[in-house]
Amino acid sequence: MKKKLLSAILSVAMVATLLAGCGSKATTEAAPAAAEEAAPAADAAAEEAAPAADAAGGLVGVAMPTKDLQRWNQDGENMKSQLEAAGYTVDLQYANNDVATQVSVLENMIANGCQLLVVASIDGSALGTVLEQAKEAAIPVIAYDRLIMNTDACSYYASFDNYKVGTMQGEYVRDALDLDNQAGPFNVEFFGGDPGDNNALLFFGGAMDVLKPYIDEGKIVVQSGQKEFAECATASWSTENAQSRMENIISSYYADGTKIDAVCCSNDSTSLGVQNALDSSYNAEWPVITGQDCDIANMPNIIAGKQSMSVFKDTRDLAAKTVEMVDAIMKGGEAPVNNTTDYDNGVMVVPSYLCDPKFADKDNYKELLVDSGYYTEDQLK
Ligand code: BGC
Repeated sequence: MKKKLLSAILSVAMVATLLAGCGSKATTEAAPAAAEEAAPAADAAAEEAAPAADAAGGLVGVAMPTKDLQRWNQDGENMKSQLEAAGYTVDLQYANNDVATQVSVLENMIANGCQLLVVASIDGSALGTVLEQAKEAAIPVIAYDRLIMNTDACSYYASFDNYKVGTMQGEYVRDALDLDNQAGPFNVEFFGGDPGDNNALLFFGGAMDVLKPYIDEGKIVVQSGQKEFAECATASWSTENAQSRMENIISSYYADGTKIDAVCCSNDSTSLGVQNALDSSYNAEWPVITGQDCDIANMPNIIAGKQSMSVFKDTRDLAAKTVEMVDAIMKGGEAPVNNTTDYDNGVMVVPSYLCDPKFADKDNYKELLVDSGYYTEDQLK
């Protein structure tokens, strides 16, 4: 109930943010890596070669946001291999973090005869029109990882408990600074995710629900004054955008050697930007820093204790659960869910399955990531 309310409040904040004139994904994204630049061509080729609809198990479209961030490559590959193992043919497409490209990917999937769509949206509020087409064609849609907003054409939602990810980050900062026993005040800064991603609101809201009471009593001071989601958001979750915001914060508020006690970052890509900025322009004691995803790029700093924690979301588990959902729907049944109350997308409460996020740091990463076969030791060197 609390989450539902939070989601509704944050959705209003999100709309306000968007109306306030955030640039489009295409214009706000940092310069794409070489591999990503090649992506539209690769996407087009893949669309031309879209698999036929008459495969034995059926044709499933899997639309992922971008190849630019590690997790979506993993999610895409996990979904594809697990769906194929279950007998389905898969049309896997990426969209270069560009909303218009993702809309056309989905139009093509519908036209090519996909019988079900799994969609990790770029902007959860921008797919209403194209998903209406899916609905008219009786194609079920599973929102993958990110809730699709303001449409009744979203049949199910498969994700992690994203609000809990945020509370885990907030609780970590609370405990690391021992806020309940120390007088403070402590300087803390906040870095959120992309305003078009409903998850970003849940992470930020979860962390703030834990830390706001300390801000209100003056034990936490946000020297930059940037405490609202819209002020702390990071367009496209980009490392470069987070880095330049952190550099500005350091030069404006901490240039005189004032200590930053903690930086509460919603995920690893933003956290990396913050760490890059601290490395280049901050001279006082290193702060407590949060993250999420256990990205390979962050692992050396996590292992060194420079990034204090991350939240591990095992994308193999999410893919496995989503494949179970696909299979049940394709066989005419109902998908397994474990939450039918909290994920209101503005039009309907979407039946959801939420996997459990896990705490990760330098002390447990081996067991969590290496022993479980998620990464090899070599990848983490
Ligand atoms: C995902 C995070 C990820 C972020 C940026 C969010 O929707 O839940 O795991 O770090 O997007 O890709």
